[in-house]
Amino acid sequence: MQVDVLTIFPNLLVSPLQEGIIQRAIVSGALEVFAHNIRDHALGKHAMTDDRPFGGGEGMVMKPEPIVAALRQVLTQRPGAHVILLTPQGRQYSQKMAEDLAKKEHIVLLCGRYEGVDARVEEHIDAEISIGDYVLTGGELAALVIIDSVTRLLPGVLGCSDSAECDTFSRGLLKYPQYTRPRQFEGQEVPELLLSGDHKLISQWRFVESVKRTKARRPDLLQGANFSSQERKLLVGHGVELVESVVAGKDDLH
Ligand code: ADE
Repeated sequence: MQVDVLTIFPNLLVSPLQEGIIQRAIVSGALEVFAHNIRDHALGKHAMTDDRPFGGGEGMVMKPEPIVAALRQVLTQRPGAHVILLTPQGRQYSQKMAEDLAKKEHIVLLCGRYEGVDARVEEHIDAEISIGDYVLTGGELAALVIIDSVTRLLPGVLGCSDSAECDTFSRGLLKYPQYTRPRQFEGQEVPELLLSGDHKLISQWRFVESVKRTKARRPDLLQGANFSSQERKLLVGHGVELVESVVAGKDDLH
């Protein structure tokens, strides 16, 4: 996958791409990231990328000309790329959106700054994404969140053992508790069943713990959850009550 990031602070992207799984994905060729400095397309002696808002008010607005010029240059190399503006006004990002983006060959991430970008840029954008209901100083960290969450879904990036299919959210449930050595830590034991070697029992325990955790921490995720009759029996057997709205027969929890 190729990701082009348009920003006025390309250095913000450097370090996070040089570590861990993202770096491995870049080395293996599964991921290519190109940072483009919007300022390189700014006009005039001062190469301004922002200006005061028409109508007055606080803050500065990103000018349309350098952004559109940068976008046009990128799109000549990647015709048909999916162009995303990172903004708190966008649609809220989710695992489902990460899965959809991971199927694309090229994406372009446009990072807004200041009070936003000139509204005339909108016609050059395919989607606007927010990573949450809070305001960052700019879209760069949001772009990195998207790159990170999409990279781990690219084929071959994660080994079989940490397959993205077993993820928190992959079926709308939070992950079960995990343990590693030592078996005893500050008086707390690893649950005996996890040492039993009985894979069927272990996977049933993990499923029940996932549902319990989701119910306690994120009950909203259980709305319309899709459990088989066997899973429901297992839950009832472990004393986990499900609310009425948790019905069988729906595939998509997102
Ligand atoms: N830019 C500023 N805040 C943002 C957010 N929450 N998501 C995406 N881009 C942003």
